[in-house]
Amino acid sequence: MSHPGSILIVDDERSMRDFLRIALQRSGHTVELAESPAAAHVAYTANEYDVVLTDLNMPGGSGLDVLDGVKAARPHTQVIVITAFASTETAIAAMKRGAYDYLTKPFKIEEIGVVIERAMEKRTLVRDNIELRAELQGRFRLDRIVGKSPVMQRIFDLVKKVAPAKTSVLLSGESGTGKELVARALHNLSPREKGPFVGINCGAIPETLLESELFGHVRGAFTGAVADRPGLFAAADGGTIFLDEIGELGSQMQVKLLRVLQERTVKRVGGTSEEEFDFRVVAATNRDLEAEVERGAFRRDLFYRLNVIQLHLPPLRARREDIPFLVEHFARKHGAALGHPIAGVDPDAMAVLCDYDYPGNVRELENIIERSVTLETGERITRAALPDLTPRRRAEASAVTPAVPAEWPPEGIDLERVMNEFERDLVLKALQHSQNVRKAAARQLGISLRSLRYRLAKIGMADEEDTES
Ligand SMILES: Nc1ncnc2c1ncn2[C@@H]1O[C@H](COP(=O)(O)OP(=O)(O)OP(=O)(O)O)[C@@H](O)[C@H]1O
Ligand SMILES: [Mg+2]
Repeated sequence: MSHPGSILIVDDERSMRDFLRIALQRSGHTVELAESPAAAHVAYTANEYDVVLTDLNMPGGSGLDVLDGVKAARPHTQVIVITAFASTETAIAAMKRGAYDYLTKPFKIEEIGVVIERAMEKRTLVRDNIELRAELQGRFRLDRIVGKSPVMQRIFDLVKKVAPAKTSVLLSGESGTGKELVARALHNLSPREKGPFVGINCGAIPETLLESELFGHVRGAFTGAVADRPGLFAAADGGTIFLDEIGELGSQMQVKLLRVLQERTVKRVGGTSEEEFDFRVVAATNRDLEAEVERGAFRRDLFYRLNVIQLHLPPLRARREDIPFLVEHFARKHGAALGHPIAGVDPDAMAVLCDYDYPGNVRELENIIERSVTLETGERITRAALPDLTPRRRAEASAVTPAVPAEWPPEGIDLERVMNEFERDLVLKALQHSQNVRKAAARQLGISLRSLRYRLAKIGMADEEDTES
């Protein structure tokens, strides 16, 4: 008995209730009894049972009503129906309506034991999966950012630590790695959260306009300046200003921005007085700003002003453990947005998604998932709905052993990450090879089904609908 749990028995026949109670209590379960669908309703509304075992034909109503009632009130409770030999068809109807299994009278005690045990196991699996989803809301998520990899977890810690302060933060990373998302999290998790978040793309506006955009202007400062106009620093008063693509700033604007950051006062274009504002600066770049400083294209003093705290977002291909969680997150997000709920992702589809390099990083992954949710008619994302994703190049395509580098990389090796990736690749491959039958995949890997489930849960693929059950 590995899964003792709580069971509600619903039967109008007293002898049957007692027989089942004694048998199941002996196996370590907690048992409660109800002699009619109405009494059962009272019981499962008050308590959440792991399993409800119900007779089908009772004078007080049908076991199908019990089934429907439990499914509505307690979606995770597993229902087993008991039927006389003659009514197997009703039993099959009950299965279609969501019953976990059925028992045909007369049955042996061992038979009940096996069925209950399997139902309890399913119940545990469902519970584990719910916990995993909850974890996606908890530890693996900060504001709207999702990440499980150690680097993302470190970024979460740092964001939480520096968000409350006024310290300037410089975000670096390739396009689509989540810089703006982190900038918003820094704002949302700060005491300025109720204040404005003002973003500007410094690369998108010509230098002459950028100055008046940022600092504002007075009437008549230049042709077209027909009225006084406050700038974005004024608009960000009490909040956060997000200077995106800061590496694109021309040299004159670099000087002007440096002054504003040093004095924390702003002079409008054409104006004479200095205005003081309370703002927090978050800047972002997809360039190597330090290299720009070295080659003289970006002012060193401005770089130091901005770079009080630096957060680097690595490309997605360098933190593949995040992929399954991001896939799950986006499938849910876009499924809900499109009114087309997605229950999960097929393992072969996940394998393809995990194996791609994402030059466009998380933005590209999100687009792929949004598109596949649109194309998909069922409730799962299948391989067929994905575009052609050329897998990353492997050093040694035929070898199954991960390559040990000939030269030790100067930044070292994240053993945990490499081993996890290798494990994930093998698990997904085994599933593919076994046509998604988990029992067969476990056999192929020489591990138990339980161990396989654990490993799948680790990569975000715990699944309520176990294919072999
Ligand atoms: N870790 C993440 N979790 C959830 N969503 C993410 C994550 N990273 C990025 N995204 C999503 O991917 C998209 C791109 O992210 P974002 O705009 O923050 O990237 P960026 O680094 O600012 O890119 P660019 O340099 O091109 O402006 C957004 O829709 C964002 O919501
Ligand atoms: Mg951006």
